[in-house]
Amino acid sequence: MRVLHFSSVTSTQDIARMILKENTVIVADEQRKGRGRRGRKWISPFGGLWFSMVLRFTTPLISLWAAVAVSMAFEELGYEVKIKWPNDLIYYGKKLGGIVAEHVGDLVILGIGINLKNPIPEEIKDVATGIPEVERDELLHLILSNVVKMDEYNILAEWRKRNITLGKRVCLSSGECGFARDIAEDGALIMMTEKGEIRIYAEDIIQRVD
Ligand code: BTN
Repeated sequence: MRVLHFSSVTSTQDIARMILKENTVIVADEQRKGRGRRGRKWISPFGGLWFSMVLRFTTPLISLWAAVAVSMAFEELGYEVKIKWPNDLIYYGKKLGGIVAEHVGDLVILGIGINLKNPIPEEIKDVATGIPEVERDELLHLILSNVVKMDEYNILAEWRKRNITLGKRVCLSSGECGFARDIAEDGALIMMTEKGEIRIYAEDIIQRVD
């Protein structure tokens, strides 16, 4: 992986899209226009880890694997970071980071944002958190060395070990609720609802009602 470092960008996703070279990583100290999943904005001031990776899209599980790679990296540093389906990174019940995937031909740009020393805005403090003790570059290095080991692992098995979604009653942003039964071979969430079994691809789980 070739890592290119920038001080301030609109979004590392934009730079990755311009360069569009397989196995390139774009990391920035701050993003002025960071974006999250589903068109949301991603606040990314100095102090966090904000980066994008250009990878060949070899499996629909690639963004789940990225979440596993992050969780493993934190484990190596002594922190237990869990995954909420599909690839939200959770620390003590709050969102530590997230992953967005943008497809360009047979490449995928995986954007990963992790709160470290950056301030968390007051209005999201009850749902978001950071780990200020972790050094950005050390974490990035550990994540990248895990990302490239994808073929050595059973992605779904590793994801299942680290997830906090399966086995819970969950509600989607559409309002539909059900029981999160398993994850399918293509990464879909298999939910049991009153209407029967459904597979979810891009919905957000907004609530867990244990
Ligand atoms: C989410 O909504 O949970 C995904 C957030 C992804 C944020 C990262 S930060 C680096 C990369 N550049 C962006 O603009 N977004 C991603």
